[in-house]
Amino acid sequence: MTTQRASDVPALDWNRLLDGKVAVVTGGGDGIGGSISRLFGRHGARVEIAEIDPERGASAKDEIEAEGGQARAHAVDVRQEDDVAKLRDAVLAEHGRVDVLVNNVGDYRPLVPFRRSGPESWDAMYRVNLHHVFLVTRAFLDPMIESGGGSIVNFHSVEGMRGYPGEPVYGAMKAAVAHFTTCLAVNQGRNGIRVNGIGTDLCQTPQVDYIGGWEEHERLWPSWAPVGRLGWPEDQARVALFLASDLSSYVTGHNIPVDGGSKAGGGWFFSPETGRFVNRPTGI
Ligand SMILES: NC(=O)c1ccc[n+]([C@@H]2O[C@H](COP(=O)([O-])OP(=O)(O)OC[C@H]3O[C@@H](n4cnc5c(N)ncnc54)[C@H](O)[C@@H]3O)[C@@H](O)[C@H]2O)c1
Repeated sequence: MTTQRASDVPALDWNRLLDGKVAVVTGGGDGIGGSISRLFGRHGARVEIAEIDPERGASAKDEIEAEGGQARAHAVDVRQEDDVAKLRDAVLAEHGRVDVLVNNVGDYRPLVPFRRSGPESWDAMYRVNLHHVFLVTRAFLDPMIESGGGSIVNFHSVEGMRGYPGEPVYGAMKAAVAHFTTCLAVNQGRNGIRVNGIGTDLCQTPQVDYIGGWEEHERLWPSWAPVGRLGWPEDQARVALFLASDLSSYVTGHNIPVDGGSKAGGGWFFSPETGRFVNRPTGI
C-alpha cells in the first residue's frame, strides 16, 4: 500500500474512472445522489443505490442500465440500523467487496427556528444528517479495509462551514459531518481509506427548488453566486467522482465547498446594476 515512487501511482482510464469498483450511494435515486449514481455508472462503477423512495431508486437503476452500466437499487432508510445491516449484507453477498461509499442523504427540513425547537426536533436533525453517516460508514468500513482500501465521500453543506442563521442545529449537524470527515481521514488513512467531504450550496434538486419563481429571481443569480449562475447536481457529482476515484489518490481529510463560490464570497454581493460589490445589499 505504501507508495514510494511516482511510477507507483496507477495510470488512469479517463473515461472509466471507477471501472469495476463497487460504489454505495445513499439517497442515490434523485437529486445530487441521483446524479452521482448515474455519473459513477457511466464511469464503470457497479452502483449500489440505497434509496428510501423505491421509484426513485428504480428510475436511477434503469437509466444506468440503459446506458450500459451496472446498478442495483435497495429500498433502504439509512436512518434505520436494520436497513443498513441488510444493505451491507446484500452488497457483500453480491460483490464480496466495497470500494466507494458516498454518504449523501441529508435534509434541512422540517426547519424549526431554534427558540421553538426541542429534543424532538434536534433528534430528527441528528438522525437525517449525522447519525446515518456514522451507521453507514461503520457498516462498510471493515469490508472496505478488507477490500484493500477505498474512498468515502460525505455530503454536508456550506452551512456547516460558515455561520448559518436559518437553523443553527442543522448547521451544527453539517459541521459535525465535516469534522467527522477530517477525523476519520486521519484515523483510517493507514488502512488505505481516504475520506473527504463536500459542502454543497445553491444546487437545484427536489429538496431545494430554485427554479420555482425563476422569472423573479433569474436576474439575481449574478449577485447570489460568484460564478453567476445556479448550481446543478452534475456540478456536485463531478467533484464526488474526483474524490471517489484515483484522480484524488493523495487527497484525504478535506472538505471542499461546491457552492459556486458562495463561501469564498463571504457576505459580499455583486450588483449587476451598479457593477460594484456591496456587503449591505438594499435592493435584492
Ligand atoms: N441542494 C442543495 O443546494 C444543498 C445545499 C446544502 C446541502 N445539501 C446536502 O446535499 C445532500 C443531497 O441533497 P439534495 O438536495 O440532493 O437532497 P434531495 O432531498 O433532493 O435528494 C435526497 C435523496 O435521498 C433520498 N433519501 C432521503 N432520505 C433518505 C433516507 N433516510 N434513506 C435513504 N434515502 C433517502 C431521497 O428520496 C432523494 O432521492 C444532502 O446531504 C443535503 O443536506 C444540498
